Amino acid sequence: MDLGETIMEKTLQTLQIRIKVSTVDEVPVNLGKTVRIGSHDIALFHLASGKFRAIENRCPHKGGVLAEGMVSGEHVFCPMHDWKISMEDGNVQKPDHGCVKTYKVEVENEDVYIVL
Ligand code: FES
Repeated sequence: MDLGETIMEKTLQTLQIRIKVSTVDEVPVNLGKTVRIGSHDIALFHLASGKFRAIENRCPHKGGVLAEGMVSGEHVFCPMHDWKISMEDGNVQKPDHGCVKTYKVEVENEDVYIVL
């Protein structure tokens, strides 16, 4: 790889894409919504605090759909076997283990964006 390719590669790695996925009102508080952006299957949540969180939509245990899970504070419980997952950092809570990818969410003028 030459210097030009290296610079191009680094530039592409730092580019961020912001995609509108919803309005604030379209996601009921403490419920999840499945959002698909290309190959990204994302669970978007509207927390009671008013914050939005977005995480990978597949549980690391056996693939439960996390957008269908029960929300408690900053955590979601997988609908299949009740693993507790932090929506803040994506970590599965003990005694279970694993993690899911988290996505940055921005809210502007009642529109909700996910940053890839
Ligand atoms: S698939 Fe999520 S806890 Fe088993």
